[in-house]
Amino acid sequence: MRRKNKYNIAVVGVGAVGIEMLRVLRQRNFPVAELRVFARSAREIDVDGQKYQVQPISAEGFDGIDIALFAGTEGEKGASVTFAGEAVKRGAVVIDNGADFRMDPDVPLVVPEANPKDAKKYRKKGIIANPNCSTIQMIVALSPIHNVAKIKRIIVSTYQAASGAGRGAVEQLKNELSALNGSGYQEIRLPDTQDRALPQQLAFNVFPHIGGFAELDYTSEEWKMVKETHKIFHSDKIKVSATTARVAVRTGHSEAVYIETKKDISVDEIRGLLKNAPGVELVDNPKENLYPLPIDCEGKDAVYVGRIRKDPFVKNGFWLWVVSDNLRKGAALNAVQIAELLIAKK
Ligand SMILES: NC(=O)c1ccc[n+]([C@@H]2O[C@H](COP(=O)([O-])OP(=O)(O)OC[C@H]3O[C@@H](n4cnc5c(N)ncnc54)[C@H](OP(=O)(O)O)[C@@H]3O)[C@@H](O)[C@H]2O)c1
Repeated sequence: MRRKNKYNIAVVGVGAVGIEMLRVLRQRNFPVAELRVFARSAREIDVDGQKYQVQPISAEGFDGIDIALFAGTEGEKGASVTFAGEAVKRGAVVIDNGADFRMDPDVPLVVPEANPKDAKKYRKKGIIANPNCSTIQMIVALSPIHNVAKIKRIIVSTYQAASGAGRGAVEQLKNELSALNGSGYQEIRLPDTQDRALPQQLAFNVFPHIGGFAELDYTSEEWKMVKETHKIFHSDKIKVSATTARVAVRTGHSEAVYIETKKDISVDEIRGLLKNAPGVELVDNPKENLYPLPIDCEGKDAVYVGRIRKDPFVKNGFWLWVVSDNLRKGAALNAVQIAELLIAKK
């Protein structure tokens, strides 16, 4: 991409991720010449007191755009499948938050802390993909360990927030809580309904169902964690197995991550690596009840890691508790960091 002092930027989608993208661009003083904001319909929105005019998306809307940050929905009728090619045709580099292009061999999948050099390999399709939110935070935490001790196995259980499924899921959680509040919490179960964003009631609940059920009865979200980890670490030999669950948290995904490394490493060495790792904050003082919590990470940029401990039965087996804001590092921030890689002066 041609280096300039300022760039014409498009943000597609003003849902949970799109709003955060506008916020992150502003907070990081991204050098924006012109900003165009697209969604399905026109409106004015306010983000932290700043007004944005949202325009209905169109192919011509991308004329003159340098970087298009996509956070429309996925799939056949989603913004990326319909308009990413149009944006590229008109000269933009697309950074896509959805899953439509992540596994395309001609589309790099990038976590800047782990595989920044891959961002340069976008020219074939003009698209760079942002990994899934639960993959990103796990990769940020594991990459420094993998670089030194080579991870050979990962078993991960996630506890994912409502906002990971978009603004509709946050509305569902809020509506359920206020309906149950009406009963003074005498009732904890609401009447069953099809009219909700998530497959189950979320208030007072946890359910192991994110995405659709797929091969071997894992969900699509669980397969994303496997395949995206392989692509980012350039190794499909790592044995990754995931269980992904939705919990009644507004924002901030938590993960219990179990790893086995090829080379010998100690808990102290892992702590040392993570203390100095980009994008990571260590919160690991269990005696003082200090460990990462989603309630503390909402609106923050870091990936928080704590509860680091050794498996007493398996050599080089370790547990980590990893928490991050799924809308920031899990989506918007990672996308803007990729854009920063694109415009970085040599
Ligand atoms: N939420 C997360 O934590 C997270 C993390 C990583 C990746 N992602 C991915 O990021 C994308 C956005 O997720 P989200 O959570 O922000 O969803 P969301 O809250 O449901 O918002 C979706 C936005 O996309 C717009 N949109 C949908 N279809 C469109 C189309 N065909 N053309 C133009 N705009 C369209 C909608 O427009 P209107 O407002 O006009 O309806 C809305 O503004 C998804 O692909 C998702 O998988 C989400």
